[in-house]
Amino acid sequence: MIVSSPLVKIRSATLKDSGALTTVFRDGWRNAYTGIIPSMYLEKMIRERDEAWWRGAITKDRNLIVLDAADVVVGYATCGRSRGSRSYQGEIYEIYLAPVYQGIGLGEHLFEACRTLLDERHFDGLIVWALADNVTAADFYWRRGGRPIGEVKEPFGRTKLSKIAFGWR
Ligand SMILES: CC(C)(COP(=O)(O)OP(=O)(O)OC[C@H]1O[C@@H](n2cnc3c(N)ncnc32)[C@H](O)[C@@H]1OP(=O)(O)O)[C@@H](O)C(=O)NCCC(=O)NCCS
Repeated sequence: MIVSSPLVKIRSATLKDSGALTTVFRDGWRNAYTGIIPSMYLEKMIRERDEAWWRGAITKDRNLIVLDAADVVVGYATCGRSRGSRSYQGEIYEIYLAPVYQGIGLGEHLFEACRTLLDERHFDGLIVWALADNVTAADFYWRRGGRPIGEVKEPFGRTKLSKIAFGWR
């Protein structure tokens, strides 16, 4: 158990969480990216992350953590070794909450839980990527001390979206 209080628990995902993760992903992604990622690509990503996909991820990934609030899984995060940066060794790959649970301090718990996991693996520095148009996420990282350290363009068909890397030393 990574965080345990009477109402909020952060723990490794188990196979019983696959249904809830499918729902959190679908609702979290639609809410965050409708109007940003072209809907054809967004809906394809959502279809691909079905319950079978999540069962596979839970089995393979020991750093897939869930946040349960009053015994309901309302968010998840994944983290591990940075996929591209040598200067920032740890990375949060994904951090998502169901829309109605955003903005009440739960993201902070998930973020700190990832930092703890990465610290335990002695990764030096942290990097997180966010679409530039995802202002909520960019503000969240900025207020936690992350600063932009890079930018790439990611193609979604003919649309190219800017992705910003936030770094913590
Ligand atoms: C980005 C995300 C994970 C942030 O989590 P969150 O729970 O919304 O953020 P928090 O509530 O922890 O923090 C937001 C603010 O709420 C404040 N807050 C804390 N407790 C609160 C409470 N009880 N009531 C109201 N606000 C509260 C926090 O102080 C924080 O303010 P600060 O950043 O100035 O310190 C979440 O909004 C999300 O899932 N967004 C959609 C998906 C997404 O974009 N993911 C990132 C992809 S890169």
